[in-house]
Amino acid sequence: MLNPAPVDLTDTLLPLAGQFPPDFVWGVATSAYQIEGAAGEDGKGRSIWDSFCLLPGVIADGSNGDLACDHYHRWSEDLDLVASLGVNAYRFSVSWPRVRPSGSGAWNNKGVDFYERVVDGLLERGVTPYVTLNHWDLPQELQARGGWADRETVYRFVEYARGIAARLGDRVASITTHNEPWVMSVLGHETGIFAPGVKDRAVAMQVAHNLMLSHGLALQALRAQGCKAGLGIVLNLAPMHPATDTAADRASAQLEDGRLLRWYMDPLFKATYPADVLAHLGADAPRVQAGDMAAIATPMDFLGVNYYSRGVVSAAGPWDTKQSGLPLTDMDWEVYPEGLTELLVRLHHDYPVPPLFVTENGAAFKDQLSGGRVADERRIDYIGRHLEAVAEAMRQGVSMKGYMVWSLMDNFEWASGFEKRFGIVYVDYASQTRTLKDSALWYRSFLRQHQGMARSVPSSKPSS
Ligand code: FCB
Repeated sequence: MLNPAPVDLTDTLLPLAGQFPPDFVWGVATSAYQIEGAAGEDGKGRSIWDSFCLLPGVIADGSNGDLACDHYHRWSEDLDLVASLGVNAYRFSVSWPRVRPSGSGAWNNKGVDFYERVVDGLLERGVTPYVTLNHWDLPQELQARGGWADRETVYRFVEYARGIAARLGDRVASITTHNEPWVMSVLGHETGIFAPGVKDRAVAMQVAHNLMLSHGLALQALRAQGCKAGLGIVLNLAPMHPATDTAADRASAQLEDGRLLRWYMDPLFKATYPADVLAHLGADAPRVQAGDMAAIATPMDFLGVNYYSRGVVSAAGPWDTKQSGLPLTDMDWEVYPEGLTELLVRLHHDYPVPPLFVTENGAAFKDQLSGGRVADERRIDYIGRHLEAVAEAMRQGVSMKGYMVWSLMDNFEWASGFEKRFGIVYVDYASQTRTLKDSALWYRSFLRQHQGMARSVPSSKPSS
């Protein structure tokens, strides 16, 4: 691993670091399919992403996750990298088909052992594990039987959750059921640009319901078996702004807000689906059985929020972010940190939320490795401004517990393949060499500042 000269930003970092409490959780995040590789090794079953990547034209560079960052073999080196950043948390996901290859039936001990090694390896390095159960890689055999559109998959997921909690639940800080149900529902089953590539709105909405039901039932099952880890879900959320102030644009933005945010937040915290979205869906609304909504609303210990940008909504059709005049990332997403404050404050006001984490935030840019260094100042600016936005939400009363950068390292970015680099660590895929980008050095300096300040704060309040 090449280590360029550290970025010294001590003076600029102090005011930022001082805005976060001593016990704040600082992390980096990854997911199984995006980094592990070892697609057919040690008894791993196929996932819907293994299958999807074989379809012509669906992945921008025609790639797949067969090798990815080869993390399955390089996990120890990668955990050293995580620890070297000075973070106290690492968010990663378990690959369901690696631990239970067909989604039901026999478990694959070699697969579970891998995650045992990762969890123990993190703890040995002083980093707390945050586990996600479903970061999109459903076993292909369950897809063949109907996938998330089939209610049976709900019960298979609860079994999977119970099995992983039994093996890892005593040593991890938290277990997240699902990462971004909106993405699995809408991008996976309505627009079909993600696995499994279905294009049917009614199916997508049944998938969303079944995901949420499986979340609630899994929480109940894990609590019943005495799981000590904090339990919650991770949602991708964003403010939806109308492109203009016309009634048509405002109505469209309101509907998109319903589909992205209220469709998930209302059942979790109010045990209902939003009436305006149900009316809009008509016959495409999901079939809901008695007791489902109460199960979905099972209390959570935390809520994870993934935030990248706002949405701009026009009744006339898709909005081109290039019109906005704001800086764009390599995904053509606007850099809009104030949207994160707006979102967090709104969640706090509109719902009885448990403590919140930003579980993903970050940006893709066209990084160049030159002379052993990646000068990614736009990513430093992006992360710094979003940390300011989190601090501002806290000043406005929001209970924030942590922040995690997406991502630890460049990886397989789904339909974009390896063309988009989100890492704070650069990966040369041919040699699998990792190089800390300037943003990683910046994050490390920032965390040193924060930890230095945290140490100087008395651990208990003097009694008055
Ligand atoms: C989120 C995903 C994550 C990554 C980032 C860029 O939607 O959870 O895996 O792809 O976007």
